[in-house]
Amino acid sequence: MRENIHVGHRHQKLAKSLLSSKLAKTWVTVKICISLFFIFLLGESRFQVISVFPRNINKNATTTTKIPKTIIKIPLNCTPLNNNKTTQTCPSNYPTKLEPAITTSEACPDYFRWIHRDLEVWQKIGITRETLEKAKPNAHFRVVIKSGKLYVHKYKKAFQTRDVFTIWGILQLLRMYPGQIPDLELLFLCDDKPAIWKRDFKNGTWPPPPLFRYCGHRDAYDIVFPDWSFWGWPELNIKEWNKLSVALQEGNKRVKWEDRIPYAYWKGNPRVSPIRGDLMRCNFSEEYDPMVRLYAQDWRGESKKGFKGSNLEDQCTHRYKIYIEGKAWSVSEKYILSCDSMTLLVKPQYYDFFIRSMVPMKHYWPIRPRKKCGDLKFAVEWGNNNTEKAQVIGRQGSEYMMKNLDMKYVYDYMLYTLQGYGKLMKLDVTVPENATEVCSETIACPITDGGLIRQCMDDSLVISPSVKAACNLHKPYGDNEIKMILKERQNAERKVMKWTDEYWNLRSGK
Ligand SMILES: *[C@@H]1O[C@H](CO)[C@@H](O)[C@H](O)[C@H]1NC(C)=O
Ligand SMILES: *[C@@H]1O[C@H](CO)[C@@H](O)[C@H](O)[C@H]1NC(C)=O
Ligand SMILES: *[C@@H]1O[C@H](CO)[C@@H](O)[C@H](O)[C@H]1NC(C)=O
Ligand SMILES: *[C@@H]1O[C@H](CO)[C@@H](O)[C@H](O)[C@H]1NC(C)=O
Ligand SMILES: *[C@@H]1O[C@H](CO)[C@@H](O)[C@H](O)[C@H]1NC(C)=O
Ligand SMILES: *[C@@H]1O[C@H](CO)[C@@H](O)[C@H](O)[C@H]1NC(C)=O
Repeated sequence: MRENIHVGHRHQKLAKSLLSSKLAKTWVTVKICISLFFIFLLGESRFQVISVFPRNINKNATTTTKIPKTIIKIPLNCTPLNNNKTTQTCPSNYPTKLEPAITTSEACPDYFRWIHRDLEVWQKIGITRETLEKAKPNAHFRVVIKSGKLYVHKYKKAFQTRDVFTIWGILQLLRMYPGQIPDLELLFLCDDKPAIWKRDFKNGTWPPPPLFRYCGHRDAYDIVFPDWSFWGWPELNIKEWNKLSVALQEGNKRVKWEDRIPYAYWKGNPRVSPIRGDLMRCNFSEEYDPMVRLYAQDWRGESKKGFKGSNLEDQCTHRYKIYIEGKAWSVSEKYILSCDSMTLLVKPQYYDFFIRSMVPMKHYWPIRPRKKCGDLKFAVEWGNNNTEKAQVIGRQGSEYMMKNLDMKYVYDYMLYTLQGYGKLMKLDVTVPENATEVCSETIACPITDGGLIRQCMDDSLVISPSVKAACNLHKPYGDNEIKMILKERQNAERKVMKWTDEYWNLRSGK
C-alpha cells in the first residue's frame, strides 16, 4: 500500500515542478492520469487483491491502449514465523506473464541509446557457453533466468550488501514486467573497477567474455547495469532511490539558491583514490580564496553517530557541488546531480548508465582533473558573477535526474538491456547444479531484525506488474551520431577551458 501512496505523491510533485514547461505539458497530463489512477486504487485499500487483470491477454490488443479492468497487488508472502523451521518458499500466485495494459508513445531517455553499443561486440557471433564461462573467474555470482524464475549461484562474497541488492533489483524487474525477460545466464562483478579490458582481447581470444557491472570505461567491454544503491545502501543509511529522490527534491526547496553558501561543496572519503586526496589540497591557498568547502567523510564515525551529519537531503546548502570519482565511478553522482546547485564535475573516466547523455554546460560545469583547483575557483567565481546562468545549469542537471532517472526508467533500462542480452544467448540456458531459486520472499522474509536492510527492501518492493509498458526505445546511435555527441562535448569543454586559462593568465600577468 505504501508503495502506491508513494507513487501517486511522487508523480503529483513531479507534475507540479514541470508545469512551467510547455513541452512537458502532455507528459504531465499522462502522469496526472496515472496519479489519479493510483489514488483511485487507494480507495479500495481494504483488499489485498483489488482486482485481477484479464488472464488471457489478447495478442491483438497489445498495441492498443486499454485501461485495465483489474489490477493485482501482491505484497511479500512470508511464511509465518511460528512455523518451525519451515523454509521460505517462493509464492506461486505472482503472474508469470502480463502485458501492460497501457502502451505509450513516450520515448525512452537518450541514455538508452547506448545499450546497443554495450552489447555490440557480441552482435555478430552471439554468446556461446565458452565465451560466457571465460567471465566466471571475475564474477561474484551468476544469475540464471529461466521461464521467469531466477536462480543464483554465488562464487565470492561481495562488499557489504551489493550483491544482495543487485539481485533484489533484478527480482523487482521480474515483478514489474513478468514474462518479458527472456531466458538468460549472466555473470556479475560487484567491484568498482572494470575487469574486461579491451587490450586483453585483441586477437585470438575474440569475442571477449560478457560481464555485468555498475560502470563502464572507454577501454573496457563490461556491460553497464544500474548499481545496488537504487534499491538502497543500508550500510551508509542511504535509502532506496524512489524515496530518496523525493527527499532530495524536497531538500532543494529548503534553501533558496541565492541564500546558499557561495562556495563549492564536497564531502566524501578522500582516501579511496589519489585524485580525491589531490582534491583536498584545493582547500588552501596563500594567494587567494580557493572558493571551496571540502570535508572528509568518516563513515565509521558517522555510523556511530547514527548518520546525523550525513543526510543527503540536507546537503544542498551550497551554490556549487563537486563530483569527483572514487575508485571508479561513484554512487554519489546521482545524489550530487539531483541537488539543483550547479554541479562541478571533475571529468570522470568511468561512466554509469545514465551519465552518458549528460551535456557539459547544460547539466553541469566541466572541471579538468589535472587543473582542478584553479578550475574550481574560476567556476565558482563565474557562477557568482553570473548567478542566473549558474542556476539554469544547476536546475537542468537536477531536472535531468528527476525526470530521466525515475525508477520506472531504471527498470525499463534493465529490461531492454536484458532483452538485448538475452537475444545474444547461443547456449542452452541451464540452472547449474548448486544454484538456488531466489525470489523477493527468500531474500527479505528471513530478515526480521527491524533494520534498514529490510526497510530498503520493503520500500523498493514492486507490488504490481506495471500497468504501463516500457518506454519506446529509439534506434541506437550510429557512428556519426556518436562522433557528433563527443565533438559537442569536447567543444563545450574547450570553451570553458579557454575562459579559465584566460582568467588565470591575466591574473598571473602573462
Ligand atoms: C488477431 O486478429 C486477427 C485478424 O484481425 C485474427 O484473425 C486473430 O484471430 C486475432 N487473434 C486473437 C488472439 O484474437
Ligand atoms: C518447534 O520445534 C520445537 C522443537 O523442535 C517444538 O518443541 C515446538 O513445538 C515447535 N513449534 C511449533 C509451532 O511447531
Ligand atoms: C596479439 O597478437 C600479437 C601479434 O600479432 C601478439 O604480439 C600479442 O601478444 C597478441 N595478444 C594477445 C592478447 O594474444
Ligand atoms: C577545508 O576547509 C574547511 C573550511 O576552512 C575546513 O572546515 C575543513 O576541515 C577543511 N578540510 C580539510 C580536509 O582540511
Ligand atoms: C567576477 O567579477 C569580478 C568583479 O567584476 C571580476 O574581478 C572577476 O574577474 C570576475 N570573475 C569571473 C570568473 O568572471
Ligand atoms: C556443487 O557442490 C558440491 C558440494 O559442495 C561440489 O562437490 C560440486 O562440485 C558443486 N558443483 C558445481 C557445479 O559447482
